[in-house]
Amino acid sequence: MKLILSKASKIRGEIKVGGDKSITHRGLIVGSIAEGITILKDYSTCDDCMATLEIMKKLGVNILKNKSTIRIEGKGLRGLKEPSDILDCKNSGTSMRLLSGLLAGQNFFSVLTGDNSLLKRPMKRIIEPLTLMGAKISGRENDQFAPLTIKGGNLKAIDYKSKIASAQVKSSILLASLYAEGNSSVTEPTQSRDHTEKILNLFGAKIESSENKITLKEKNKLIAKDLSIPGDISSAAFFLVLASIIKGSKLLIKNVGINPTRTGILDVLKNMGADISVKNERNKNYEPVADLFIKGSKLKSIKIFGKIIPKVIDELPILAVAATQAEGVTEIKDAQELRVKETDRIYAIAAGLKKMGAKVVEKPDGLIIEGPTALKGNICESFDDHRIGMALAIAGVLAEGKMQLLESECINVSFPGFTEILRRTCGADHVYETN
Ligand code: S3P
Repeated sequence: MKLILSKASKIRGEIKVGGDKSITHRGLIVGSIAEGITILKDYSTCDDCMATLEIMKKLGVNILKNKSTIRIEGKGLRGLKEPSDILDCKNSGTSMRLLSGLLAGQNFFSVLTGDNSLLKRPMKRIIEPLTLMGAKISGRENDQFAPLTIKGGNLKAIDYKSKIASAQVKSSILLASLYAEGNSSVTEPTQSRDHTEKILNLFGAKIESSENKITLKEKNKLIAKDLSIPGDISSAAFFLVLASIIKGSKLLIKNVGINPTRTGILDVLKNMGADISVKNERNKNYEPVADLFIKGSKLKSIKIFGKIIPKVIDELPILAVAATQAEGVTEIKDAQELRVKETDRIYAIAAGLKKMGAKVVEKPDGLIIEGPTALKGNICESFDDHRIGMALAIAGVLAEGKMQLLESECINVSFPGFTEILRRTCGADHVYETN
């Protein structure tokens, strides 16, 4: 599939993005090991979450899905069964890393695999702590890469200091800790997204957090709950940037999750001069939600580094697009983690934007972008990475001339419906799909 894009004017109207991907993964996993029936409402239908759902079914959990809800018959902590086949996480790092932790706690054998991109992503970061807890877990090339084989059970507690701020690593250890003897803790250099802590707490686990340290007390029992899943701010980010850049735009994005560990995009855009108001703030169940109203404005450059990076890690590709339209030199630093995402996102976004005429310099841990530049449509690759694809699609509707975005189907990995919403907000003449 290809997306053909051309310059749009004035973005107006009201949109809703799909359910939060991170929360949907956790709802599926924690619901499966809780006691009772969990209902996930407004879940993410993205490919990544569906990979987790299929794996939970292979572990013996009855899960029924309809258009807007998922019904999970929780098996309790000890009710999962040994899968008869390998478990395919497809493109999803969250599935692989979180499920490794869950499977480390099971007294049976399992194998996790994934697509070509996932097989190249670092797994030592979870193998190391899970091994310290007593799981037998190995991977290719001296435990660096998947496929991973796991024989779990008999775990002991850990007091782990992680070198990277990663919610996937933290969550993997917390899920394994549900099965360990004693109290476990994970300390991160800076706080990453806290959805796992929040959901475990909501389901009744004894969990304490102080700054960057999370402690899970032993002997937990999880009780099923119904969850209303907020819209994904990482999906909303593409439209926040688009409407901020195009003069005269007015866009309302309804029902977006505004968990403070995820709202770096709002802070950065506001500091760049964006006109975003957070309206009708409410606490849906357990995660805060609001409507976001954006008006087109003039953006200026910014320095993005340090503590905010984990809060904005998935939004850096689209912020790089914003930086090409901002006055001055934008610097993104301390973001070396971007090099080990679904693709090397520093290289990929720099390559795409340079092809479109932007002034971008690649650094080992980030980017330097000088703006504003009038972008020119070109033939650009998504590198089979959903967030690179969507960021370049937004660049495509800001650019003069025709833009072709190749391998655009990867967008479904996190945001099915993106193309349709883009088409609706920009006008059908400016966005269409072809083979
Ligand atoms: C995620 C955590 C982040 C993020 C990913 C989703 C999660 O990864 O990039 O898209 O749901 O826990 P890291 O934890 O590896 O930074």
